[in-house]
Amino acid sequence: MKLRGRFTLTLALAALVPIALAAVVTTRVIASSYRERYAADRAATQQTLKRELARLEKNVSESATSLAGHDNPFVGGMLLDYVKGDGQLDADAQRRLREQSLPLMRGLSLDILTITGPDDVIQVSPHYRAKVGDVDKVVRERAAAHAGSAYYVRDSIMNGRTKETVLAVESAQLSRYQGYTVALWAGRRVGDDLVSPLRTTSVDARIVAPDGSVLLPPAGKDWAKLAKDDPIREPLRGPDGVPIAIVEVAVSDGGLDQLLRDITLTSALLALGALGAVVLTGLFVARRTARDLDRLVEGSLAASRGDLDHRVPVRSKDEVGAVAAAFNFMMEDLKTSKEKLVIAERIAAWQDIARRLAHEIKNPLTPIQMAMDTLRKSWKKQHPSFEEILEESTRTVLEEADRLKKIVAEFSDFARMPKPELARIDLNEVVRYSLSLYQGAVKVDSNLAPDVPEIDGDKGQLQQVLLNLVENARDALGKREDGRILVTTKRGEANDRLFLVVEDNGPGVPPELKDKVFAPYFTTKQAKGGTGLGLAIVHRIVSDHGGRITISDARDRGARFTIELPLRSGAALLASRI
Ligand SMILES: Nc1ncnc2c1ncn2[C@@H]1O[C@H](COP(=O)(O)OP(=O)(O)OP(=O)(O)O)[C@@H](O)[C@H]1O
Ligand SMILES: [Mg+2]
Repeated sequence: MKLRGRFTLTLALAALVPIALAAVVTTRVIASSYRERYAADRAATQQTLKRELARLEKNVSESATSLAGHDNPFVGGMLLDYVKGDGQLDADAQRRLREQSLPLMRGLSLDILTITGPDDVIQVSPHYRAKVGDVDKVVRERAAAHAGSAYYVRDSIMNGRTKETVLAVESAQLSRYQGYTVALWAGRRVGDDLVSPLRTTSVDARIVAPDGSVLLPPAGKDWAKLAKDDPIREPLRGPDGVPIAIVEVAVSDGGLDQLLRDITLTSALLALGALGAVVLTGLFVARRTARDLDRLVEGSLAASRGDLDHRVPVRSKDEVGAVAAAFNFMMEDLKTSKEKLVIAERIAAWQDIARRLAHEIKNPLTPIQMAMDTLRKSWKKQHPSFEEILEESTRTVLEEADRLKKIVAEFSDFARMPKPELARIDLNEVVRYSLSLYQGAVKVDSNLAPDVPEIDGDKGQLQQVLLNLVENARDALGKREDGRILVTTKRGEANDRLFLVVEDNGPGVPPELKDKVFAPYFTTKQAKGGTGLGLAIVHRIVSDHGGRITISDARDRGARFTIELPLRSGAALLASRI
């Protein structure tokens, strides 16, 4: 992965991980505090429900107990009437009961009141007058079985002219006086009175029958939603202990799910926003850094090509900026070192030349010395063929003096070789012109690239380079019939240099001589009067142009000289200053 991608990904992770963590932790904390509150709410609601039921039951059983008390004027009066009527109620007593029973029931806030006489005939039933006179043993049975406690029933009452079945809490009692017993039950409707105190904005209640049918609907419409979390259930048991209805109370969890969804959504949006910001910032920063690094790479490549004048911009004060500054410093250093190296190499080269020149000069001196010695001795000895000796010795001396003169002349030519005068030139043109000088005297093939750019070069000197190389190839080929010389030009792949190649199919340069042939005065052609300066001159001109020359073997075993020349010659300018 590229630096840019890695950087952005790291930043994105660094931003997303804390957001995700914060979202998870917040969700957990909120959820757990909500759940605690919810459990507390449920427990409190259950308590309230139980308290309400207990209050209801207590009220009713207290009403029943007080009605059954001896001091109660109504039931007490009724029992007295039975005693008086010897177990029967006269019409007067019955009328009185009819008249008083309704106010009595209302006064006690009851909805049901039934009283049966010793013969189990219903004498009082203000909530359902038609039942008066009916025989009903159940009142006595319940009073006997449940005296003082309350239970729930579904009973009928008349509401005006319509009969209504209601759910009620009831309590039954017996009341005795002088051998007469009346049984009674008092009941109160169970409905809104019970559930209203329970209902709040987050709590609703309803009453259902055991078969699931709704006896008292909930107040709000959101029952299904509220009751999703199992509502609190409290059975209302009948006299036989079997539930005849169930109060259901649903407690809202305070919209926890919605809240959690909101948090998740907010976190996701936050993460998305952060991601966007991070990716943009990351890309921006990474692009800047990558661009700076690219510049450094470019700089390093330029350095490897020998362009020591290349500098990279220092645009920031951070580590990347420091690297750029260090790079520039290193390039400055390299340039100074290279300048020193060039000077040192040049001095060494001149020392080498001086040594070889001394050797060259020493060679002719020996024959001169010997000739003069022979001449002097034969003169002293009055040698009969003195004239011949004189002739021969002076010829030798003159010949060797000539040789010395030639050596000195060539050396001074070499030493005086001017620095290149650089101009923008077309190398192909130089090749074409140089080869035209042979005017067919030598067969030289050329293969010139059509698209070579212009270079910094000295036309005359590059011409000399080519002529020296072609001359050498000619010497190497000798009189071979199939001799072939090929001159090629081509551009470098990086488009920052040109190549000039001269090759032949002669005997080639033996490996052990490859290092030596560029040295001044190295020649294998002494007999033919070679000076050994040809390739030394070529080498020097190429170096002065900031280029290099190398020898390799041509395809068909001959010698191949490859010259590499920069298009823009910083090194050439540098060399020309020394
Ligand atoms: N194309 C070639 N094939 C084989 N050997 C070569 C070739 N070119 C140069 N040489 C070898 O390199 C030596 C040095 O060459 P250089 O041009 O410096 O001097 P020279 O040719 O001997 O003398 P001058 O150039 O003065 O005639 C040659 O003597 C020869 O041995
Ligand atoms: Mg030569």
